[in-house]
Amino acid sequence: MCGIVGYVGKRNAQEVIISGLEKLEYRGYDSAGIAVITENGLESAKFKGRLSVLADYLAEHPIKGTTGIGHTRWATHGVPSDENAHPHFNTAKTLAVIHNGIIENYQEIKAMLIEKGYVFRSQTDTECVAHLFDLYYDGDLLKTAFKVNSIIRGTYALLICHRDSPDEFVALRNEAPLVIGYGEGENFVASDIPAVLEYTRQVAFLENGEIAHVTADGVTVYNSKGDTVKKEPFTVEWTLEAATKGGYDHFMLKEIHEQPQGIRDTINTRIDANGYIKLDDIKLTKADIEKFDKIYVVACGTAYHAGCVGKYVIEKLAKIPVMCDIASEYRYSDPFVDDKTLVIVVSQSGETADTLAALRESKRKGARILSITNVVGSSIARESDDVFYTWAGPEVAVASTKAYTTQLVAFYMIALNMALAKGTIDEAGYFELVSQLKNTADLLEEMLKDDSEEKEVASLIKDKSALFYLGRSVDMQTAKEMALKLKEISYIYAESFAGGELKHGPIALIEPGTPVIAVSTQTALVEKMVSNIQEVKRRGAFVIGIGCEGDTLLKGVCDKVIYVPKVDDLLAPLVSVVPGQLIAYHTSLMKGYDVDKPRNLAKSVTVE
Ligand code: F6R
Repeated sequence: MCGIVGYVGKRNAQEVIISGLEKLEYRGYDSAGIAVITENGLESAKFKGRLSVLADYLAEHPIKGTTGIGHTRWATHGVPSDENAHPHFNTAKTLAVIHNGIIENYQEIKAMLIEKGYVFRSQTDTECVAHLFDLYYDGDLLKTAFKVNSIIRGTYALLICHRDSPDEFVALRNEAPLVIGYGEGENFVASDIPAVLEYTRQVAFLENGEIAHVTADGVTVYNSKGDTVKKEPFTVEWTLEAATKGGYDHFMLKEIHEQPQGIRDTINTRIDANGYIKLDDIKLTKADIEKFDKIYVVACGTAYHAGCVGKYVIEKLAKIPVMCDIASEYRYSDPFVDDKTLVIVVSQSGETADTLAALRESKRKGARILSITNVVGSSIARESDDVFYTWAGPEVAVASTKAYTTQLVAFYMIALNMALAKGTIDEAGYFELVSQLKNTADLLEEMLKDDSEEKEVASLIKDKSALFYLGRSVDMQTAKEMALKLKEISYIYAESFAGGELKHGPIALIEPGTPVIAVSTQTALVEKMVSNIQEVKRRGAFVIGIGCEGDTLLKGVCDKVIYVPKVDDLLAPLVSVVPGQLIAYHTSLMKGYDVDKPRNLAKSVTVE
């Protein structure tokens, strides 16, 4: 997703912007550009490719000025190219626009502008905003911003600067995140907090429809009607170090290793003096919980896989029927949602467009919304009735790891609380699970001390063209998540199947040498899985089992077994996913790929 940085102050804008854009690289992009107001007017540079291409160019051809905007683009309209990279300009190149999102009515605006003689240089929807500003600009940038804001529709975070207003820029927000960073004699606007953290910890989010007028001396925020909005900046407590690699080779490896801490932080802040889970941030009462006749869990990708485990856990513990759906499907499926439905939306970023749209559709139908998210103040958090924040810290690698395990923790805690409220678990069972849940952080820490087994598996599978994961019951959900992790960063075709479904088709894919990873942690199902393993072994598969310590059955049939600590069956997904994450990481590394920024993927998907 595009990254945006705007600066006005006394520093060299080019340096602030490039350094800010570097902190936003995790969002995924295919080109980068900058525009700075200089004594010569508006100077710019933009190139397809990595940010370093732009940075290297600027090192040779610096642009000197103290007001500027910069952008990393993740293509939606128009291929990645120098022309389509942002900023976009009016014909006279006196003003520059950068944009994250989609202008939905750009075709009608473009037609109107062409009629008036405007010539378009790019294939983007954004360029129409530049010409629209040109059409209405009369020396007052803010006034023009209000006019343009009333015409454009869609999702947008927009920054605009003009040569003739050298000490200011404007920011417009609708459905795409923008954060203001407040400095002393300087101010910043960016897509995310890490971009400004080097300079200030005082930040505030722009809300939908708001316009910010940014100068070195202050930031004035207006709603779409033109009334001033008072913003209360808050202090960012986490460090930039928390959002950078901290000694690890890759963000993904760092984040895998941060899981024990993320789990601890997510749990420990919510256990009271008597050992009960206290969800202060969730206002659901016993009566509310009893009123729900069903729950929908809605999310995308890895967050959806966490939701699938959540469904299993809530049904087992709280005995409430749960449907788990992919957000992009759910919104168009006319789901059975009403005021007796709890909808749990899960999103690491809190900004995923499909998940946000599903939330709104659920709200429209009268459901109560509980979100599980990792980003405080994100759109999903703000629009939910209740929020469970996972305290995983910023997740930068595109492949989600610590967000997933902390999302599982959220589901365990929510389900345990619901079960206690409904009386579907007794106190002894409750405390046993709470205690084991807390202990998983230590178990993961121990497991993460040695990844030699996963490295060995990576070396066995790295040159294969396809790989299959098997699982039964909740292990099937872990298998799905492991397959997603492998395919997204190693580009090996990976698929997951329910063990019992093999004979109904997928077994036709097995041929001599096909690697199969079989997840088997569920006590009552190990024998069944052993039969499935034998079925694929007979067709020549090379089988790697992921089982629990103390197992005697898997090792008799698998070519290799990776053992995870034995925990209650219900909690097994929290520990068994870790070998899958490490196998994916090492495979990608051995294949020489960019582990943290896999091809074609963005960290935060804020378009449908
Ligand atoms: C995979 C991955 C994606 C995200 C998905 C939802 O590793 O990270 O599948 O899980 O795009 O993103 P959030 O959780 O931000 O809504």
